[in-house]
Amino acid sequence: MRDLAPHRRDLDPIEIASRDAIEALQLERLRWSLNHAYTNVPHYRSAFDAAGVHPDDLKALTDLATFPFTTKQDLRENYPFGMFAVPRERIVRVHASSGTTGKPTVVGYTQRDIETWAEVVARSMRASGTRPGDMVHIAYGYGLFTGGLGAHYGAERLGCTVIPISGGMTARQVTLIEDFRPSTIMVTPSYMLSILDEYRAQGLDPRVSPLEVGIFGAEPWTNAMRAEVEEAFDMHAVDIYGLSEVIGPGVANECVETKDGLHIWEDHFYPEVVDPETGAPVAEGERGELVFTSLTKEAFPIVRYRTRDLTRLLPGTARSMRRMEKVTGRSDDMIILRGVNVFPTQIEEMLLGVSELSPHFQIELVRRGRMDAMIVHVEAAEGVDLDQARTVGAGALAGRIKNIIGVSAQVSVNPAGGVARSQGKAVRVVDNRTKA
Ligand code: DLL
Repeated sequence: MRDLAPHRRDLDPIEIASRDAIEALQLERLRWSLNHAYTNVPHYRSAFDAAGVHPDDLKALTDLATFPFTTKQDLRENYPFGMFAVPRERIVRVHASSGTTGKPTVVGYTQRDIETWAEVVARSMRASGTRPGDMVHIAYGYGLFTGGLGAHYGAERLGCTVIPISGGMTARQVTLIEDFRPSTIMVTPSYMLSILDEYRAQGLDPRVSPLEVGIFGAEPWTNAMRAEVEEAFDMHAVDIYGLSEVIGPGVANECVETKDGLHIWEDHFYPEVVDPETGAPVAEGERGELVFTSLTKEAFPIVRYRTRDLTRLLPGTARSMRRMEKVTGRSDDMIILRGVNVFPTQIEEMLLGVSELSPHFQIELVRRGRMDAMIVHVEAAEGVDLDQARTVGAGALAGRIKNIIGVSAQVSVNPAGGVARSQGKAVRVVDNRTKA
């Protein structure tokens, strides 16, 4: 792998500014953003009034903790355009997140918001090791999902040649990577595994592929997965984080030179971490639920949004901006099995240590009598005998789950290709407990 760290002179000055300079800018922008939300969005006006707070009360960044949270439920109640802070005619784009239950969450952007978004994605890509003039293969889905178009505008802003292939048709993805020779790929980590399988199925050596940088996000993934993909493709695997409600991809990104958590682009997004139960801010560096307030967005300002993503804040390293630790999971993805908390990322990490099994997996929850049970559906690794995978592989995985997490799980080993493949975000948990 080549050293792809960007030169300091190519960074936005604010990325390496002093903490004082960053915080002064945040305070000024936060005042603007709270006022903008309060003045133009009826929901914020009534929520602030009910909590007895006013934007003018914000004297220091820590005063933000006195303002009310915004939840997914608030967005649903204002479906579709009730949270917009500018007249509908000034909205140049909408995106929506599918939402497994009920109505989707709709977000909007002014022309300036689209430009801000392109800038933070371009900054994320540069942090990942991508450079102006590089060719970028974008396999995030295009459409209402923010992944495809978000990455697209950022790549153009950085000055790259964009291949807007979107998700799906995996054989064609491999053909175009080999023919066009992009150096960067942007895709969910689970779909990257499908692309890896396809390389092998076509008899191609992924290590000689043109890819040097993978910018992976939209779902949780582990450092064990990073090691797997970096080794398989001989490329850098870098984490990108974001969510539609805050802007889309490009809220935070790892730096290729350190890969030690994601630097939050704090000049646009103000992070807090709170106790998921009580909502109280946690002590510095403690784990909890990530909360974001937008500092510059015009169309869809968001105040103290409860992301449900679990992480902790750490001081900056390669940049002055703070980092968030790789997201281990969402509070709503957490499985509570006989009183023990289990995250799909824990299963991923253990699975990647079992050589008889491939990295694809899905967790099924079932009810047996009055007990909940967990079945981990996996596959035999390429070239491994199915019986061997079923005995040695399954035994090793079940043993690790029991020893490390402390619950018994059934491991069901399928032949290669037997676990549902994702073309975007992987569905890691299927809950069949309510079914007969
Ligand atoms: O997934 C935006 C995105 C697209 C990010 C492409 C990165 C790359 P939503 O569909 O609104 O937006 O889903 C947001 O996905 O709250 C997290 O739970 C999860 N997520 C996103 N990035 C990561 C990541 C896009 N790097 C939700 N690690 C978020 C873990 C992630 N989880």
